[in-house]
Amino acid sequence: MCATPGGQRLLARCGDPSSLVEVDCWTAGGSADVSARTARVVSSSDDPPLAPDPPLTDGSVLLRASEPGDLPAIEARINDPDVIRWIGPTQGSATDVIALNRQRWANGSPTFSICEPDGTCVGLVWVSVREADQTTGWVGYWLLPRARGQGLATRAVRLASGWALREMGLTNLRLTTEPENERSRRVAERSGFRQTGALHHQATIDGRLIDQVVYELVPEGE
Ligand SMILES: CC(C)(COP(=O)(O)OP(=O)(O)OC[C@H]1O[C@@H](n2cnc3c(N)ncnc32)[C@H](O)[C@@H]1OP(=O)(O)O)[C@@H](O)C(=O)NCCC(=O)NCCS
Repeated sequence: MCATPGGQRLLARCGDPSSLVEVDCWTAGGSADVSARTARVVSSSDDPPLAPDPPLTDGSVLLRASEPGDLPAIEARINDPDVIRWIGPTQGSATDVIALNRQRWANGSPTFSICEPDGTCVGLVWVSVREADQTTGWVGYWLLPRARGQGLATRAVRLASGWALREMGLTNLRLTTEPENERSRRVAERSGFRQTGALHHQATIDGRLIDQVVYELVPEGE
Protein backbone atom coordinates (compact mmCIF):
# COMPACT_ATOMS: atom_id res chain seq x y z
CA MET A 1 0.00 0.00 0.00
CA CYS A 2 1.02 3.53 0.24
CA ALA A 3 4.69 4.03 0.80
CA THR A 4 5.02 7.38 -0.84
CA PRO A 5 5.55 10.49 1.17
CA GLY A 6 3.67 12.47 -1.40
CA GLY A 7 0.08 12.32 -0.18
CA GLN A 8 -2.22 11.54 2.69
CA ARG A 9 -4.56 8.85 1.47
CA LEU A 10 -3.08 6.87 -1.32
CA LEU A 11 -3.39 3.53 -2.93
CA ALA A 12 -0.66 1.20 -4.03
CA ARG A 13 2.38 3.34 -4.29
CA CYS A 14 5.81 2.09 -5.12
CA GLY A 15 7.20 0.43 -2.04
CA ASP A 16 4.35 -1.49 -0.49
CA PRO A 17 2.24 -4.06 -2.29
CA SER A 18 -0.59 -4.59 0.13
CA SER A 19 -4.18 -4.79 -0.80
CA LEU A 20 -6.84 -2.69 -2.36
CA VAL A 21 -7.91 -1.41 1.03
CA GLU A 22 -7.19 2.28 1.24
CA VAL A 23 -4.77 3.15 4.00
CA ASP A 24 -3.65 6.41 5.43
CA CYS A 25 0.08 6.64 4.71
CA TRP A 26 0.94 8.38 7.86
CA THR A 27 -0.77 6.10 10.33
CA ALA A 28 0.27 3.05 8.32
CA GLY A 29 3.82 4.25 8.23
CA GLY A 30 5.03 3.07 11.59
CA SER A 31 4.74 3.76 15.26
CA ALA A 32 6.38 5.47 18.15
CA ASP A 33 7.85 2.13 19.08
CA VAL A 34 9.75 1.87 15.80
CA SER A 35 10.89 5.43 16.21
CA ALA A 36 12.17 4.64 19.68
CA ARG A 37 14.18 1.74 18.33
CA THR A 38 15.90 4.01 15.79
CA ALA A 39 19.36 4.56 17.16
CA ARG A 40 21.65 7.53 16.60
CA VAL A 41 18.90 9.94 15.68
CA VAL A 42 19.13 13.54 16.71
CA SER A 43 17.09 16.70 16.84
CA SER A 44 18.57 19.79 15.21
CA SER A 45 15.94 22.54 15.13
CA ASP A 46 12.82 23.75 16.91
CA ASP A 47 10.47 21.34 15.21
CA PRO A 48 12.89 18.76 13.93
CA PRO A 49 12.47 15.48 12.17
CA LEU A 50 14.58 12.67 13.52
CA ALA A 51 17.47 12.10 11.17
CA PRO A 52 20.97 10.71 11.20
CA ASP A 53 23.64 13.24 12.04
CA PRO A 54 25.81 13.68 10.11
CA PRO A 55 23.75 13.02 6.96
CA LEU A 56 24.30 9.73 5.15
CA THR A 57 26.68 10.01 2.23
CA ASP A 58 28.90 7.91 0.03
CA GLY A 59 30.66 10.96 -1.42
CA SER A 60 28.46 11.12 -4.54
CA VAL A 61 25.01 11.38 -2.99
CA LEU A 62 23.87 12.77 0.33
CA LEU A 63 20.72 11.78 2.24
CA ARG A 64 19.17 14.11 4.79
CA ALA A 65 15.71 15.01 6.07
CA SER A 66 13.69 17.29 3.81
CA GLU A 67 13.88 21.02 4.44
CA PRO A 68 12.22 24.17 3.02
CA GLY A 69 14.99 24.59 0.43
CA ASP A 70 13.70 21.38 -1.19
CA LEU A 71 10.39 22.99 -2.17
CA PRO A 72 11.36 23.58 -5.85
CA ALA A 73 12.34 19.93 -6.24
CA ILE A 74 9.12 18.70 -4.62
CA GLU A 75 7.16 21.11 -6.81
CA ALA A 76 8.92 19.67 -9.87
CA ARG A 77 8.04 16.13 -8.73
CA ILE A 78 4.39 17.12 -8.41
CA ASN A 79 4.42 18.07 -12.09
CA ASP A 80 6.72 15.34 -13.44
CA PRO A 81 4.82 12.97 -15.74
CA ASP A 82 7.10 9.98 -15.03
CA VAL A 83 6.67 10.22 -11.27
CA ILE A 84 2.94 10.71 -11.70
CA ARG A 85 2.81 7.70 -14.03
CA TRP A 86 4.70 5.30 -11.74
CA ILE A 87 3.87 6.60 -8.27
CA GLY A 88 0.79 8.72 -8.74
CA PRO A 89 -0.23 12.32 -8.23
CA THR A 90 0.52 14.11 -5.00
CA GLN A 91 -2.33 15.36 -2.91
CA GLY A 92 -1.52 18.75 -1.47
CA SER A 93 1.22 21.26 -2.09
CA ALA A 94 5.00 20.89 -1.90
CA THR A 95 4.84 22.50 1.53
CA ASP A 96 2.34 19.84 2.62
CA VAL A 97 4.68 17.11 1.37
CA ILE A 98 7.58 18.44 3.44
CA ALA A 99 5.37 18.71 6.52
CA LEU A 100 4.10 15.18 6.00
CA ASN A 101 7.63 13.89 5.53
CA ARG A 102 8.58 15.35 8.88
CA GLN A 103 5.57 13.61 10.39
CA ARG A 104 6.69 10.35 8.80
CA TRP A 105 10.01 10.57 10.62
CA ALA A 106 8.15 10.98 13.89
CA ASN A 107 6.02 7.96 12.99
CA GLY A 108 9.00 5.73 12.27
CA SER A 109 8.81 5.80 8.46
CA PRO A 110 11.72 7.97 7.37
CA THR A 111 11.86 9.94 4.14
CA PHE A 112 15.24 11.24 2.98
CA SER A 113 15.87 13.95 0.43
CA ILE A 114 18.30 12.62 -2.16
CA CYS A 115 20.84 15.39 -2.63
CA GLU A 116 23.86 16.17 -4.71
CA PRO A 117 27.01 16.63 -2.59
CA ASP A 118 26.32 20.40 -2.32
CA GLY A 119 22.96 19.64 -0.67
CA THR A 120 20.71 20.32 -3.68
CA CYS A 121 17.66 18.06 -3.48
CA VAL A 122 17.04 16.01 -6.63
CA GLY A 123 14.69 13.32 -5.32
CA LEU A 124 13.35 11.38 -2.37
CA VAL A 125 13.88 7.89 -0.99
CA TRP A 126 11.80 6.51 1.84
CA VAL A 127 11.27 3.47 4.03
CA SER A 128 7.73 2.80 5.19
CA VAL A 129 7.03 0.57 8.16
CA ARG A 130 3.53 -0.67 8.77
CA GLU A 131 2.10 -1.03 12.21
CA ALA A 132 1.15 -4.65 11.51
CA ASP A 133 4.74 -5.69 10.76
CA GLN A 134 7.46 -3.59 12.28
CA THR A 135 10.27 -5.84 11.08
CA THR A 136 9.73 -5.06 7.38
CA GLY A 137 10.42 -1.79 5.60
CA TRP A 138 9.08 -0.92 2.15
CA VAL A 139 11.39 1.20 0.04
CA GLY A 140 10.33 3.77 -2.56
CA TYR A 141 12.08 6.51 -4.54
CA TRP A 142 11.97 9.07 -7.29
CA LEU A 143 14.49 11.33 -8.99
CA LEU A 144 13.93 14.46 -11.00
CA PRO A 145 14.65 13.97 -14.72
CA ARG A 146 17.87 16.01 -14.66
CA ALA A 147 19.35 13.69 -12.01
CA ARG A 148 18.55 10.41 -13.77
CA GLY A 149 21.09 8.25 -15.57
CA GLN A 150 23.93 8.91 -13.09
CA GLY A 151 23.42 6.13 -10.58
CA LEU A 152 22.10 8.45 -7.86
CA ALA A 153 18.95 6.42 -7.18
CA THR A 154 20.95 3.23 -6.79
CA ARG A 155 23.37 4.94 -4.43
CA ALA A 156 20.49 6.43 -2.45
CA VAL A 157 18.65 3.12 -2.12
CA ARG A 158 21.85 1.40 -0.99
CA LEU A 159 22.53 4.07 1.63
CA ALA A 160 18.95 4.21 2.92
CA SER A 161 18.62 0.41 2.98
CA GLY A 162 21.85 -0.12 4.88
CA TRP A 163 20.89 2.55 7.38
CA ALA A 164 17.38 1.13 7.83
CA LEU A 165 18.71 -2.36 8.54
CA ARG A 166 21.38 -1.09 10.91
CA GLU A 167 19.47 1.57 12.78
CA MET A 168 15.73 0.89 12.59
CA GLY A 169 15.67 -2.67 13.89
CA LEU A 170 14.29 -3.94 10.58
CA THR A 171 15.18 -7.43 9.41
CA ASN A 172 13.60 -7.29 6.00
CA LEU A 173 13.43 -4.72 3.20
CA ARG A 174 11.13 -5.00 0.22
CA LEU A 175 10.06 -2.85 -2.67
CA THR A 176 7.48 -3.19 -5.37
CA THR A 177 7.24 -1.75 -8.82
CA GLU A 178 5.24 -2.32 -11.93
CA PRO A 179 6.74 -4.94 -14.26
CA GLU A 180 6.99 -2.33 -17.02
CA ASN A 181 8.99 0.12 -14.88
CA GLU A 182 12.35 -1.06 -16.21
CA ARG A 183 14.38 1.79 -14.72
CA SER A 184 13.00 1.15 -11.26
CA ARG A 185 13.62 -2.58 -11.60
CA ARG A 186 17.24 -1.91 -12.52
CA VAL A 187 17.63 0.36 -9.48
CA ALA A 188 16.26 -2.44 -7.28
CA GLU A 189 18.57 -5.05 -8.75
CA ARG A 190 21.67 -2.83 -8.68
CA SER A 191 20.89 -2.11 -5.04
CA GLY A 192 21.00 -5.80 -4.13
CA PHE A 193 17.27 -6.59 -4.25
CA ARG A 194 16.10 -9.78 -5.92
CA GLN A 195 12.65 -10.50 -7.26
CA THR A 196 10.77 -12.79 -4.88
CA GLY A 197 7.22 -12.51 -6.12
CA ALA A 198 4.61 -10.97 -8.34
CA LEU A 199 1.14 -9.64 -7.64
CA HIS A 200 -1.75 -9.37 -10.05
CA HIS A 201 -4.22 -6.53 -9.58
CA GLN A 202 -3.60 -6.20 -5.86
CA ALA A 203 -3.14 -2.46 -5.98
CA THR A 204 -4.05 0.69 -7.84
CA ILE A 205 -2.25 3.84 -8.87
CA ASP A 206 -4.49 6.81 -9.53
CA GLY A 207 -7.46 4.47 -9.97
CA ARG A 208 -5.60 2.15 -12.34
CA LEU A 209 -5.37 -1.53 -11.31
CA ILE A 210 -1.76 -2.60 -11.60
CA ASP A 211 0.44 -5.66 -11.52
CA GLN A 212 3.54 -5.52 -9.33
CA VAL A 213 6.83 -7.32 -8.98
CA VAL A 214 8.03 -7.74 -5.41
CA TYR A 215 11.72 -7.42 -4.56
CA GLU A 216 13.52 -8.30 -1.36
CA LEU A 217 16.95 -7.23 -0.25
CA VAL A 218 19.33 -10.15 -0.26
CA PRO A 219 22.17 -9.72 2.22
CA GLU A 220 25.60 -9.75 0.63
CA GLY A 221 27.07 -13.21 0.14
CA GLU A 222 23.73 -15.03 -0.16
C1 LIG B 1 13.22 5.03 -11.08
C2 LIG B 1 14.24 6.15 -11.21
C3 LIG B 1 14.54 6.73 -9.83
C4 LIG B 1 15.50 5.55 -11.80
O1 LIG B 1 16.41 6.57 -12.09
P1 LIG B 1 17.79 6.21 -12.81
O2 LIG B 1 18.50 7.45 -13.08
O3 LIG B 1 17.53 5.26 -13.92
O4 LIG B 1 18.52 5.36 -11.70
P2 LIG B 1 19.98 5.56 -11.17
O5 LIG B 1 20.11 6.91 -10.55
O6 LIG B 1 20.31 4.39 -10.30
O7 LIG B 1 20.86 5.55 -12.48
C5 LIG B 1 21.08 4.37 -13.15
C6 LIG B 1 21.46 4.73 -14.55
O8 LIG B 1 22.58 5.60 -14.50
C7 LIG B 1 23.69 5.00 -15.18
N1 LIG B 1 24.88 5.28 -14.37
C8 LIG B 1 25.78 6.24 -14.67
N2 LIG B 1 26.72 6.24 -13.73
C9 LIG B 1 26.42 5.29 -12.83
C10 LIG B 1 27.04 4.85 -11.64
N3 LIG B 1 28.17 5.38 -11.19
N4 LIG B 1 26.44 3.85 -10.93
C11 LIG B 1 25.27 3.31 -11.35
N5 LIG B 1 24.65 3.69 -12.50
C12 LIG B 1 25.23 4.69 -13.22
C13 LIG B 1 23.39 3.56 -15.29
O9 LIG B 1 24.01 3.01 -16.43
C14 LIG B 1 21.90 3.54 -15.33
O10 LIG B 1 21.42 3.75 -16.63
P3 LIG B 1 20.74 2.53 -17.38
O11 LIG B 1 19.72 1.96 -16.44
O12 LIG B 1 20.17 3.16 -18.58
O13 LIG B 1 21.88 1.58 -17.63
C15 LIG B 1 13.72 7.28 -12.12
O14 LIG B 1 13.55 6.77 -13.41
C16 LIG B 1 12.41 7.89 -11.64
O15 LIG B 1 12.40 8.76 -10.77
N6 LIG B 1 11.27 7.42 -12.23
C17 LIG B 1 9.97 7.92 -11.85
C18 LIG B 1 9.55 7.47 -10.45
C19 LIG B 1 9.63 5.98 -10.30
O16 LIG B 1 9.39 5.21 -11.21
N7 LIG B 1 9.94 5.57 -9.06
C20 LIG B 1 9.98 4.18 -8.71
C21 LIG B 1 8.59 3.70 -8.48
S1 LIG B 1 8.55 2.02 -7.93
